[in-house]
Amino acid sequence: MDSDVFKEDYFEDNHVVITGGSSGVGLGIARRFASKSADVSLIARDEGKLETASDELRDDFGAGSQYFSSDVRNYEDLEASIDSAVDEYGSIDVLVCAAAGNFPAAAAEMSSNAFKSVIDIDVMGTFNTCRASHKYMESSGSNIIAISAPQSVQPTPLQSHACTAKAGVDSLIRTLALEWSEDGIRANAIQPGPVKDTEGLKRLVPDEKTKEKLHDVLPTGRLVDKEEIGDLCLYLASSLAQSITGAVIPVDGGQMLIGSGGMAQIFDLG
Ligand code: COA
Repeated sequence: MDSDVFKEDYFEDNHVVITGGSSGVGLGIARRFASKSADVSLIARDEGKLETASDELRDDFGAGSQYFSSDVRNYEDLEASIDSAVDEYGSIDVLVCAAAGNFPAAAAEMSSNAFKSVIDIDVMGTFNTCRASHKYMESSGSNIIAISAPQSVQPTPLQSHACTAKAGVDSLIRTLALEWSEDGIRANAIQPGPVKDTEGLKRLVPDEKTKEKLHDVLPTGRLVDKEEIGDLCLYLASSLAQSITGAVIPVDGGQMLIGSGGMAQIFDLG
């Protein structure tokens, strides 16, 4: 099936900023925008991973690509990175908030700080990224896309921190969609299901037996590709989606259809 329905130069002269862009879903999204001629700014914590990812975008797509090392939890540091990104590539056309933290942990055993870490990365990180970017998005028909998760609406065993955090991300995005509509900004969120070859999947589904159970229980019978999340981002950022704002859209292989019971079965929780 041909996934390249957008012209190669569709996002030419567009500046796409992606937090968590050095790996996983964030890099998958970066690859899709780079393949459509966007200039991409990657923001993440690990300088080495950022450099590798940025080189990959240049080598594979000849894309304009730059990177900045920041932790989305540190507002001043993040704001400085966003300022520098805009200095080089201009105002922001698409802002993707993909930085996230997660690990499986039972609520009764998790420390308060562990719970807070995930809230800080997911909720505060998304707010900080949007807040620091707002002045560069006003009046430009820009788009915000946040990476949420099925956990935002789907209670999931060992995921009390991520469920709470991603529900917060959805709510923030819907509120920004309303508040910032007068600035010409649309804001949407995507709920990726189990995405192949990601840190998230490695942490939540560490062994082959659990992975097989996941395949069996997913309605599509397959894990999601990183680039499939990127494909929805292309659509949401395109002129085809001008009436879509405040939406939270699953790309999850039908994970949410199986409900909490299905996920509990996968984690052997009865
Ligand atoms: N189970 C239970 N608690 C855990 C844990 C686990 N697997 N991993 C970390 N924690 C706890 C730590 O013990 C610590 O709590 P404490 O101070 O009470 O001991 C707290 O979480 C913070 O851990 P720390 O390693 O200091 O945080 P960090 O800010 O360096 O990292 C994390 C944040 C914990 C989310 C880390 O896993 C991370 O950086 N993840 C990024 C990548 C990622 O999660 N990708 C998947 C996205 S879906």
